[in-house]
Amino acid sequence: MLGEPFYYLNNLTVNTFSEAEILSLDTSDGAEMKKGFRVALGEVVRPSSFFRIHVRACRRFQSPFTPAKHALFAYSTVSKSRHSASVASRLLGVTLVVACGITTLVLYPPVVHADAPIQSEGPLGRKIRLHEVKKHGQSAETKWITKGTRVYDITEWIPGHPGGEVILRGVGGAVDQYWNIFTIHKKQEVYDILESYYIGDIDLRDLVNGQVPAENVDDPFKSDPKRHGDLTVHSERPFNAETSTEELNKFLTSLDAFYVRNHLWVPRLDEFKHSLIVEMPNGEEKVYMLKDLKEKFEALKITATLQCSGNRRRHMTSEARSTNGLPWNVGGISTATWTGVRLRDVLADAGFPVDDWPDDVKHAQFIGAEAYGASIPIDKATDKRGDVILAYEMNGKPLPPDHGYPIRVLVPGNVAARSVKWINKIVLSDEESNSQWQRRDYKCFGPNVGGNPDWDSAPAIQEMPVQSAITSLRDIFPNSQQDNKLLQVYGLEEDSIVVEGYAYSGGGRRIVRVDVSSDGGRSWQQAELLPNEAKGAKSWAWERWRWVLPRQSAGRCFVVKAVDEAYNSQPDNYEPTYNVRGNLTSAWHRVGYRPE
Ligand code: MTE
Repeated sequence: MLGEPFYYLNNLTVNTFSEAEILSLDTSDGAEMKKGFRVALGEVVRPSSFFRIHVRACRRFQSPFTPAKHALFAYSTVSKSRHSASVASRLLGVTLVVACGITTLVLYPPVVHADAPIQSEGPLGRKIRLHEVKKHGQSAETKWITKGTRVYDITEWIPGHPGGEVILRGVGGAVDQYWNIFTIHKKQEVYDILESYYIGDIDLRDLVNGQVPAENVDDPFKSDPKRHGDLTVHSERPFNAETSTEELNKFLTSLDAFYVRNHLWVPRLDEFKHSLIVEMPNGEEKVYMLKDLKEKFEALKITATLQCSGNRRRHMTSEARSTNGLPWNVGGISTATWTGVRLRDVLADAGFPVDDWPDDVKHAQFIGAEAYGASIPIDKATDKRGDVILAYEMNGKPLPPDHGYPIRVLVPGNVAARSVKWINKIVLSDEESNSQWQRRDYKCFGPNVGGNPDWDSAPAIQEMPVQSAITSLRDIFPNSQQDNKLLQVYGLEEDSIVVEGYAYSGGGRRIVRVDVSSDGGRSWQQAELLPNEAKGAKSWAWERWRWVLPRQSAGRCFVVKAVDEAYNSQPDNYEPTYNVRGNLTSAWHRVGYRPE
């Protein structure tokens, strides 16, 4: 459907007439383009650029309004429809003014209205049964959706939907639950686009208390896997859960205790059917099955920590101010050894010159099978020592469904939001991913900036800052055999305290020091960095650390802060890095202590 742009009038004035006579069509420079023709609902109007249309309501004029109400505002839209066009460029609002039998449509930026601005009464409010909507599902020629109690035929819109084919999940039924997940829809221009596809209202016989009954609403999460792990759940649908403190005390996190951050549902994929498409800058595509990746490319193992940008958000909220987002404690972070093939090798195989690419290719965009998307700079994607892999195993086992089975991208050193699970498509582009997770949510602003920032003014988070946290604080005693062994290692014979935790920095920067205090940060010592067997070209994994100290020398407030090889450290409180999204919370972690 790609092709020359055209404009068409859809839904030409709600409730006033179903057909109108266009007296003239003017271009933006005032030249008259077309005269005296009729337009009906959904009819295509050419040419490609116009500014004003003079319309006269014709014989089938059915105004329900009295002559006194000459000025009517309607929400008809005039859309520029070229399927590659951006949402914004595809839309113009229209005001309809009826005066002395002559109607003028004046194009102007979208009107402001509420979620479902057009009421259903009037001649165009055709009543449609739900079983009829159902017939217009994925395999039908024309595809319908409902939102609230209104019905839309979105067939024309599907190829241009910025979120891609995920829209097909909703056809033949209600999209309300999807819009609640994809909050990017909740803005005027999207409401306006939707309204241009309005065809009628759900028949009252199918509504209960004015709403579509729950059994008729599709559950996007119906195929999510069962979870058994020791996870602290923050939300079930979509599933989000953090690693328990017990698991945080291990260098490698068990698969079913690895934190889960899902924005949407878990797509159920089959490794023998699922394919990965790699799109070159010239639009050429190469397709790989998991089998091809395993056979064609060298496999490598990378030990990497994934950390959600909201890890420790709870602390920012309690110590600074309220933030938006899930209240992660210290467990929005986990570590695994991942097996996969280098993205760089796959891009080279697909024909991309990975050592000398054209200047206009700046980003590798990743699209997940359920519609999540993110991107990373092309330098990182092609860096020999950047260790970006297409991973298919975690700690030696196939990826679990929650973590991206059968393939995910692993971008070590970067915020985990860029490690796209269920990877379906990779696009090399001059632009960042268009997703809300790239262009909006995962960004930081100054502490003074409120909840409605200028999203474009800040870069997307990529590499992570230094982070550390206390994950265990316990008393140990010489009369316990097990504790005594540990005390001996540290040359201690008295009741003592063991403090443990993690320290991590982004960009592969090694943690060189972990400073610990038991008196709220007045005096410091260095914790011991525990040995590990991390694999990879750089320090992509957290360091586990331990501090053992006699109980009688301990104060009442333990604190940790870490330092990386670039001598970056953490702020001592949450206010300087406060941002309303609660991203990148990394202030000194303080934990109160009371002897048993
Ligand atoms: N990939 C897809 N396809 N869908 C998602 O919701 N969430 C991202 C990233 N990749 C996400 C995704 C975010 S925000 C994080 S923090 C990590 O996955 C979490 O990875 P995990 O669930 O394997 O721990």
